[in-house]
Amino acid sequence: AQQMNVGLLGFGTVGTGVLEIIEQHQDKLAHQIGAPVKVKKVLVSSLDKDRGPAAAHTELTTNADDILLDDDIDVVVEVMGGMEQARDYMKKALEQGKHVVTANKDVMAVYGSELLKTANEQKCDLFYEASVAGGIPILRTIVEGLASDRITKMMGIVNGTTNYILTQMTKEGRLYEDVLKEAQALGYAEADPTADVEGLDAARKISILGTLGFSMNLDLDDVSVSGISSVTSQDLQYSKQLGYTMKLIGIAVRDGDKVEVSVQPTLVPHEHPLASVDDEFNAVYVYGEAVGETMFYGPGAGKLPTATAVVSDLVEVLKNKRLGVTGNSAIIPQFEKQLKTDEE
Ligand code: HSE
Repeated sequence: AQQMNVGLLGFGTVGTGVLEIIEQHQDKLAHQIGAPVKVKKVLVSSLDKDRGPAAAHTELTTNADDILLDDDIDVVVEVMGGMEQARDYMKKALEQGKHVVTANKDVMAVYGSELLKTANEQKCDLFYEASVAGGIPILRTIVEGLASDRITKMMGIVNGTTNYILTQMTKEGRLYEDVLKEAQALGYAEADPTADVEGLDAARKISILGTLGFSMNLDLDDVSVSGISSVTSQDLQYSKQLGYTMKLIGIAVRDGDKVEVSVQPTLVPHEHPLASVDDEFNAVYVYGEAVGETMFYGPGAGKLPTATAVVSDLVEVLKNKRLGVTGNSAIIPQFEKQLKTDEE
């Protein structure tokens, strides 16, 4: 069958992982898609950097239009991060009739409904599994795996950086600043880690989870957020002695027709499964009326875990394309948003 061509926007940690997985799992991917897949071009910020062996079989460009306007490119994979520019490129790709896969939680939390609308109009797919909890296929799980149930509660440790910091401070008695630096060096933290430590990154992810899980359009403004920057070692030690582990938890709860979404440092009893999710790992607890309690655990950040989610989306898009059923990735929310107010 004819080769499927991919344009990659971004050659950072995740972009490198995407190239590696496509290369290493070529046979399996070709078998599933029904055609070989190739990264034809990669958008980079500079042509001078040595990109190593990952770049050997692809063309590098600094001009996004080389990809967005290339008729041979079927799918654009956005892993460059950032906000406005990434959104503009995704929008342009969709307008050109290209399918889009993204790992960008910032863009999806803010412009998700707008981009998904464009995707549907264009009969294109737009998938974003990697935007929440990296290596855990949680979006597909709540949308497809639990399609038959009514989800009423989700609680997630969805930021690896803060979970790493809290774990190391609690278990190893290390200092906040030291652990944060290490999380940055390990590639878990955002370029500006304020979004991690102040809870904004987790807020973006829980709003995406809530939107899909409850089938209503939740915005970032609907999430009440507090982060971990003022948590002290003493707080953590006292909590531990009292039988609790402090975690930064994103919660989305549905009570009747009303929802409540928040991110805050939370005392989790030692015996609750979320208490033993350590270091950079993520976990999402989902309660469905019929299924009861479920929990999904795995790496929430890092090169290959995040790249697996991206490439699995790519497989889905290319399969849909072959079957002629693209353009259904936007699930139009079923319910009007009704937020629970403080007084209730
Ligand atoms: N900064 C994010 C985290 C990366 O620490 O979880 C993955 O989204």
